[in-house]
Amino acid sequence: MASLTVRQLDEKLKRLLRLRAARHGRSMEDEVRTILREAADETGREALDLIEPSTKPHARAAGPAKAVALNVLLIIGGGIAAYKSLDLIRRLKERGIAVRCILTKAAEHFVTPLSAGALVGESVFTDLFDPAGEFDVGHIRLAREADLIVVAPATADLMAKIAGGHADDLATAVLLATDAKVLLAPAMNPSMWANKATQRNVAQLAADGFAFIGPNEGEMAESGERGTGRMAEPLEIVGAAEKFLAHETTQPLKGKRVLITSGPTHEPIDPVRYIANRSSGKQGHAIAAAAARAGAEVVLISGPVTIPDPVGIRMVKVESAREMLNAVERTLPVDVAIFAAAVADWRVANAGEQKIKKIVGKTTPELSLVENPDILSTIAHRTAQRPPLVIGFAAETENVVANAKDKLARKGCDWILANDVSPATGIMGGDRNTIQLVTKAGVEAWPPQSKDDVAAMLIEHIVAALNGVKE
Ligand code: CTP
Repeated sequence: MASLTVRQLDEKLKRLLRLRAARHGRSMEDEVRTILREAADETGREALDLIEPSTKPHARAAGPAKAVALNVLLIIGGGIAAYKSLDLIRRLKERGIAVRCILTKAAEHFVTPLSAGALVGESVFTDLFDPAGEFDVGHIRLAREADLIVVAPATADLMAKIAGGHADDLATAVLLATDAKVLLAPAMNPSMWANKATQRNVAQLAADGFAFIGPNEGEMAESGERGTGRMAEPLEIVGAAEKFLAHETTQPLKGKRVLITSGPTHEPIDPVRYIANRSSGKQGHAIAAAAARAGAEVVLISGPVTIPDPVGIRMVKVESAREMLNAVERTLPVDVAIFAAAVADWRVANAGEQKIKKIVGKTTPELSLVENPDILSTIAHRTAQRPPLVIGFAAETENVVANAKDKLARKGCDWILANDVSPATGIMGGDRNTIQLVTKAGVEAWPPQSKDDVAAMLIEHIVAALNGVKE
């Protein structure tokens, strides 16, 4: 049977698959496996042949749904403690953590690529210039896809090279290229550990942000030797790794800038009167809070609301649509822009500088309206500094999906979160929301849920989309 990869699917299917995978907290490949496994239960296991074996490690199979899989890249250095790293692989995998493995040349004297590969469940990486490896999983990709890199055992020589910024083999090239946290588990003879050169390197690495676990004190491999230099036990290393990974999974938007508009706008009639709408700002503010919890640098640009400012964000308070557009433009560039504000479509053309006086028995004042700038459309149609992901809302009272599809095309954004704001739904000003996510790929109906849950679900989709962009 011919093999099929996710890459070969058409764009529409790929986007649908990405959304489905994000919802279930799986990688796209794992989502396909799940679909095929379900199909196979009905039609026979041959259906699994449809997808070729992935070179990617498995995402966590169980546990709470997350939009990011936990990936540890284990670098095994050349020391006698390398045998313990085989147990470390098992311990990490037992916890549902995906493991990739690099063996240094020296490590191959202590453990074989075959034994490490059997435990990891895929080939281990050994060469910087492996043509097959470079094509599919080059050192830059290895460096980028790791949530955490563990170096165990970290030998004196390997630490010296890392401290000196060397990149003459796969392990050191990956360590030089990564942004991920690196956990070092040193292991060496006590005299080597105590040596001034090693201690200088350790101090340098700690100052550069590397984390350490161990070395422990105790019996050494060489008979009769005791002292500090034993590699930490696999379970201790796993414990330290889990602390860093927990931080990683709760901060999937770390390093991303997210802009959100929220609330209504007030369009002045005169200095004391204005045109407004019923938006409470609850949904936009909930999204800002969720993005901040996910580690993003958040700028919340809000019209006048009575709810509290979310914590951990930069707040910009505005009144009118034109002020909101100015504030949005000043905030660019951003990675994601979410337009949840209920912007007034019109403003009063002849807004009075003085309070309009009521003169009993005289004619009522005429208000002539002019169109406000469409902030979402302006930003989505920019050629310079258009955010990579532009998301709008569609507040509708009828033909929700059809109107939202029309808005998606007209405003040039990537996603629209459509909701029915008819008075009977209680959405405007209420605490719950029912969303239909409209993208170029199709429509995804979200269940009725709290505005906080809508925010969390949107952030999951954003994380998945940003991860997908990297593929
Ligand atoms: N929006 C905007 N600037 C405007 C009007 C709307 O940025 N002047 C954004 C909203 O924040 C929302 C999306 O556009 O993300 C759709 O808003 P909505 O009020 O549903 O649509 P309108 O364009 O106002 O169209 P209509 O009122 O005809 O439904």
